[in-house]
Amino acid sequence: MQVANTIEEARVLRRGYSGESLGLVPTMGYLHEGHIALVRRAKTENDRVAVSIFVNPKQFGPTEDLGRYPRDLQRDLQLLEAAGVDFVFVPDGEVMYPGDFQTIVQVTEVTKQLEGARRPTHFDGVTTVVAKLFNIIEPARAYFGQKDAQQVAVVRQMVRDLNFNLDIVVCPTVREADGLAMSSRNKYLSTEQRAAAAALYGALRRAEALWSAGERRGDALRDAMESVLAAEPLARIDYVSAADPETLREVEHEVRPGQGVLLSMAVFFDKTRLIDNFLLMPV
Ligand code: PAJ
Repeated sequence: MQVANTIEEARVLRRGYSGESLGLVPTMGYLHEGHIALVRRAKTENDRVAVSIFVNPKQFGPTEDLGRYPRDLQRDLQLLEAAGVDFVFVPDGEVMYPGDFQTIVQVTEVTKQLEGARRPTHFDGVTTVVAKLFNIIEPARAYFGQKDAQQVAVVRQMVRDLNFNLDIVVCPTVREADGLAMSSRNKYLSTEQRAAAAALYGALRRAEALWSAGERRGDALRDAMESVLAAEPLARIDYVSAADPETLREVEHEVRPGQGVLLSMAVFFDKTRLIDNFLLMPV
């Protein structure tokens, strides 16, 4: 496994794989089984697999957790080597954003709801860094987790609008035994908070059960999730949502026949903010 720290090194490695298909898994490191599932999928669909590790300052708001975001590069590299990754791109802030950097890639509509409404500059940071990674690594396919449902919608929109010549592949959310979605941020949770955090999955399951029984009213689906979360004293709801999977706009009345719904939420446990979602299909 080779490691590139600069754009030039990454391009040299990429050229070494010309004529071969390359899958890219962009990450911010502190890897867990959710990230490794993306790597495994990429391995089955490409001749070569690259992973990027970069805690992207542009996607963190001024009061967010950039400074304390967990990092463990040695462990990450061991996990990636064991998973059979060909090359890892690990730039630092200066490499990605030199002093005269002045471009923002901005998707304007699908960024307005949900996470984008609470984290106003977050997706500008995501699309800017992901566009750079696509241009540096030139993958045939890029792998993203359903865990970050709006990120998938935003990146897909960017790829369509800017004609990036690659496919976006979305992989299912990998969960702990009690249903908690794996996340680098789970490390922040105390033992009590960690136990309480299973409420996100519980809330999604409750709404899913209603959906399976035929419930289509947006309010009823949101209320079901809210009541499960409200029963957990350590959980503080940021939002719960039942939205159109394409536009991400809230379902005001009922999900139309033949349409799916994206159930999603963000929940604080003290300062730690967790997100999760289910994408439900018409039955
Ligand atoms: P990060 O949070 O490190 O996640 C990297 C990728 O792993 C994302 O596509 C994310 O959706 C996926 N992922 C995280 N947890 C997962 C889980 N439990 N199951 C399945 N996939 C999971 O998302 C980012 O980094 C950044 O925004 C990035 C795209 C790298 C741009 O900086």
